[in-house]
Amino acid sequence: MCGIAGCVGHVNTPGLVVEGLETLQYRGYDSAGIAMQNDGQLEVVKTIGAPGNLRKQFDVNATIAETAIGHNRWATHGPVNMPNAHPHTNETGTIASVCNGTIENYKQLRAELTYNGYSFSSQTDTEVIPHLFDYYLAEGAEPENAFRQALGRLVGAYAVLALTDQDPGALYAAKFSSPLVLGVNGHEHIAASDTVVFAGTTKQATFLEDHDMVRLIADEPPRITSVKDSGSVVRVPEDIEDIEKKVGKGEFEHYMLKEIFESAETVRDATRGRIHPEDNLVKLGGLESVEERIKDTSRIVIVACGTSYYAGLIGEQLIEEIAGIPVEVQQASEFVYRNEPFDKNTTVIAISQSGETADTIGALKKADELAMLKLGIVNSLGSRIYRNTDAGVYCHAGPEIAVASTKAFTSQVTVLTEVAMALAEKSNTLNKPLMEELVALPEKIEAMLADTSAIQAAAKKYADYKNFLFIGRGYNYPVALEGALKLKEVSYIHAEGYGAGEMKHGPLAMIDEDFPTVALATDNPQLEKTMSNIEEIRARRGPVLALATAGNKEVEQTADDVIYVPASLEQTQPILNSIALQLFAYHVAVEKGLNVDQPRNLAKSVTVE
Ligand code: M6R
Repeated sequence: MCGIAGCVGHVNTPGLVVEGLETLQYRGYDSAGIAMQNDGQLEVVKTIGAPGNLRKQFDVNATIAETAIGHNRWATHGPVNMPNAHPHTNETGTIASVCNGTIENYKQLRAELTYNGYSFSSQTDTEVIPHLFDYYLAEGAEPENAFRQALGRLVGAYAVLALTDQDPGALYAAKFSSPLVLGVNGHEHIAASDTVVFAGTTKQATFLEDHDMVRLIADEPPRITSVKDSGSVVRVPEDIEDIEKKVGKGEFEHYMLKEIFESAETVRDATRGRIHPEDNLVKLGGLESVEERIKDTSRIVIVACGTSYYAGLIGEQLIEEIAGIPVEVQQASEFVYRNEPFDKNTTVIAISQSGETADTIGALKKADELAMLKLGIVNSLGSRIYRNTDAGVYCHAGPEIAVASTKAFTSQVTVLTEVAMALAEKSNTLNKPLMEELVALPEKIEAMLADTSAIQAAAKKYADYKNFLFIGRGYNYPVALEGALKLKEVSYIHAEGYGAGEMKHGPLAMIDEDFPTVALATDNPQLEKTMSNIEEIRARRGPVLALATAGNKEVEQTADDVIYVPASLEQTQPILNSIALQLFAYHVAVEKGLNVDQPRNLAKSVTVE
């Protein structure tokens, strides 16, 4: 939540920062702002809404600045308005700062600063930062020390960038529990919430750790020190050539559509080099270092949120069926509160696209305290979850910009299938057909995406309904949950996912001609029962849009409308089915004229609990 970017020494620092904010828009888009410093003079420009609006407020390419810092806001403290937009400054406008995170003790700090004569112009928690910086400068501290002392007063999670006229040309940055990464490109330095800001332009990135702060000056190596004791800290830059700058929309109208269309490629990337059907072999290099501990695993707990949690529910079925290990999936935000008995042979698997989700990080902390083996299924290289797990498997979905997760979900399910096979005995008879099917899937996805007219027609027909049920059984049950989440997230239509068998236990009461159901009715051992549920809904005049396997004509005799998807194995069918439901949600949102990529009230990385 919230994205920050700052730059020193670039030929056009304002341009780079605004472009960076546009790339980071997925992290927040309530308001945006930039502070630019030239010859010690600070100028701040803010806007409500997307960072692209900044371009209307000043000439981004013609403005000269030695340093610049910017922010995309996802509102936490105080409503969306100009005073609450970052950057925030001290009263004299000589210090500017931006912050991604939350300052838990801000009320106490505000009271203290107010007592010392400071006044505040926003309701945000983070306005205390420039005032504290100012306070310690006024006390006579050198800028670097004043910044350190200010940081030392903060309780919470933060990634902060700051500029002061007392150190013109320098950019200060620090992090604790929120992501911050440095890109170094010869003369210039960039500090940002995510490597996507500079991937493609810099080949290496330095991931700052908690309690790190840094002073960035053009032409000089970053000076990283500890907030705690001011000692020098060495952070070795890491290669980020793998993170391609795939962040343009290309020919697509929206990122969400582009990302759905990338699914074939991402499933391919998630299997490349890992599965070898000819040798009945699954090779997950990321798990090799913990092979022995994995062998002792008697139980698995998957922790995740949102779409990643639903991927986990599919993973649960896959691992239990294929590897025979008991699995439980918990919402990360609930896992932290439970007092269930765990033994040392319980392995935790954290699933996260962003790798920065606060609740999932919290769950990993608990796993740490219980000395469990922690594995990650993460899409963002270098992210906190990626770094805070003992080992893991990378999703290879590439940057996902649309708030609604699509291609990352299909990659997660692909990886979970691989993990299930890797955990299984070599003699498992399911492994080989599953591997062959994973190899075949990208072509099936491509075939499906070559003609989406039936999905578009269904979206047009159903876009005006106010409520939806999504139902499925077996492997299709989590797909129903995820389909409902996708629809509500981008179209703001109320939608609930249910196990089809639950209909008679309550939800059927809601069914009438105004309450449609999306039924996952692809071929699987439970299809006959699902067909009965469809009949029961139709008997109560409920419209039914079904997903069926190509060639199965039985479903269209019962459902009102049918979207056909290619046949797959029961275990891999969720990948195809969820792509169809992602497209359905997308086209409904487009029909309704909504901001598909940036749904109201949401942000891509949920970095607060
Ligand atoms: O980055 P993560 O996978 O940890 O994010 C978890 C959820 O916040 C995320 O999946 C959210 O539900 C998506 N917006 C759904 O499309």
